[in-house]
Amino acid sequence: MDRWKGRVALVTGASVGIGAAIAKSLVQHGMKVVGCARNVKQIENLAAECVSSGFSGTLFPYKCDLTVEDEVLSMFSWIKVQHQGIDVCINNAGLALPEPLLSGKTSGWKTMMDVNVIGLSVCTREAYQSMKERKVDDGHIININSICGHRVINNADAHFYTASKYAVTALTEGLRQELREAKTHIRATGISPGLVETEFAYRFYSENQVKAEATYKSYKCLQAADIANAVVYVLSAPPYVQIGDIEITPVEQMM
Ligand SMILES: NC(=O)c1ccc[n+]([C@@H]2O[C@H](COP(=O)([O-])OP(=O)(O)OC[C@H]3O[C@@H](n4cnc5c(N)ncnc54)[C@H](OP(=O)(O)O)[C@@H]3O)[C@@H](O)[C@H]2O)c1
Repeated sequence: MDRWKGRVALVTGASVGIGAAIAKSLVQHGMKVVGCARNVKQIENLAAECVSSGFSGTLFPYKCDLTVEDEVLSMFSWIKVQHQGIDVCINNAGLALPEPLLSGKTSGWKTMMDVNVIGLSVCTREAYQSMKERKVDDGHIININSICGHRVINNADAHFYTASKYAVTALTEGLRQELREAKTHIRATGISPGLVETEFAYRFYSENQVKAEATYKSYKCLQAADIANAVVYVLSAPPYVQIGDIEITPVEQMM
């Protein structure tokens, strides 16, 4: 990770869960990390924790709702002014809402698409443009996908979320192909976790917290730090190594 010291990463959805763990880990490895989410107070607390832990990097909290393109574009402008641009983009922010295909609300489907697919794509485009204008040829874009991006699990509540994550699989591979055509050495990687113990299920089942709690009790789940470790592994690979997609699941998870 030495070559990333002092360089700039954007981590979306850095307020809690996997994004917070990734942001913390990259700061620990000496990076300047812009962490964004709507609940910026939680990122400010994390930034203070990084300082008190004596980490060599810095976490810069930024309030941004990824469903509002103007906010995303303003964030990239702010990054350009404050830090010149970004070298690493971790598209982590995402959510599931229990909206089945036969009865779900259109508004819920739109929210999932806006964050999981459109927000991710806007950040990817802006990250690439930022790298291109500064002639950064070794940048990295990492999409936090899901095992749901690779198979359809028999759970009606998750089918639309699954469709949004299949889109992430296509976007990651499409991005890799466009980057090759553009003759850059910027890399694109997907990380596809199984069940990770975060706020995810509590938000998914916001009207049934007992069900949410049960989600994480049936077996030993992954922890957010396990996914952060995978990000560090991906960023540590030598510049000629392209890691396409990593699936990480709890040993006991049935699929
Ligand atoms: N947990 C799992 O089992 C699991 C498994 C596979 C894949 N994943 C994927 O991993 C990623 C992170 O999930 P997690 O488990 O860490 O979930 P989480 O604990 O619920 O955190 C989700 C993060 O996304 C952010 N976010 C949601 N909507 C946003 C918006 N409109 N604008 C900006 N940020 C937004 C949230 O921040 P604010 O609410 O503060 O805005 C939060 O930081 C997601 O892409 C998810 O699909 C999770």
